[in-house]
Amino acid sequence: MTKARLFSGMQPSADSLHAGNYIGALLQWREMQRDYDAVFCVVDMHAITVPQDPASLREQTRRTAAQYIAAGIDPESSTLYVQSHVPAHAQLAWVLNTITGFGEASRMTQFKDKSLRYGADATTLGLFAYPTLMAADILLYNADAVPVGEDQKQHVELTRDLANRFNTRFGETFVVPEPVILSDTARIYDLQNPTSKMSKSAESDNGVLWLLDDPKRTAKKIKSAATDSEREIRFDRGEKPGVSNLLTILSAFTGEAVTALEQRFAGRGYGDLKGEVADAVVAEFAPIRERALELLADPAELDRLLAGNAERATAMAERTLAEVYERVGF
Ligand code: ADP
Ligand code: NA
Repeated sequence: MTKARLFSGMQPSADSLHAGNYIGALLQWREMQRDYDAVFCVVDMHAITVPQDPASLREQTRRTAAQYIAAGIDPESSTLYVQSHVPAHAQLAWVLNTITGFGEASRMTQFKDKSLRYGADATTLGLFAYPTLMAADILLYNADAVPVGEDQKQHVELTRDLANRFNTRFGETFVVPEPVILSDTARIYDLQNPTSKMSKSAESDNGVLWLLDDPKRTAKKIKSAATDSEREIRFDRGEKPGVSNLLTILSAFTGEAVTALEQRFAGRGYGDLKGEVADAVVAEFAPIRERALELLADPAELDRLLAGNAERATAMAERTLAEVYERVGF
């Protein structure tokens, strides 16, 4: 039996991924790649929809790919490549632009958010067309399943609409993908401001657990995490966001259910909890960090590996693109 196809990607928008990206995306990708024919992309063409420094972008693209591999994405059994290495993404996106309504694109909330965040001068056609490029990413590979965070759900809905529209207008061509919404229980919050998501663009570095942080620094950040003035270790997002976040992280890394953790920590202090969280995170991240740094120490080998994967991706993508071109009359 052939496996269903999965497509997912992340932007190379920081030097390191953080615990939110790891728990909310990478961990789940690593599990899913066994059951799916998985395609994972570092979406550098999406990254340039907001201003980027070229040298940093190139470096962050390599670093992101290295962290995918170090975290267990297998570049042999899965396809792991860089978006700009496969020109078919831009080519299909152009065709999709011509069947996308200006009005429907205008309803995308990410565009509204980002254009407010980056200001009028940085609000480009590229930013506006982000969702059709994302649709092309998905449709080129005939993906059945697309794991995304809640914030990307609207884009996958648009992708489904475009696939159906194209199929109706030009004949059956695309697989209509299903979003796999990554669970909200896997949402990780900032250690210092535990009501905000852990994010690459956090104001202070102290609240963010970077995959490539030195283990001592990771432990220190966890030990200084914000909690509350009670003593009880109990999961309650509303009243106890800091403690709840620590329980979520520990549960993600040890597999122990949050309710079991609550029982095990009954009568114990926050210091004990933080100690266990620090040990669990360091045990998980330290070997990944080592492996990522090893991969980054040999850029030629990493580039060779990415080029090989881009070739496989190109072969898949070109098949779809050729069919699309034929359908539209090119
Ligand atoms: P991108 O812009 O590349 O999507 P993000 O950093 O917003 O970058 O997200 C990358 C992936 O990591 C997405 O799947 C997103 O849902 C997940 N993610 C990001 N931040 C968190 C978080 N704090 N908790 C859980 N998952 C997260
Ligand atoms: Na995102």
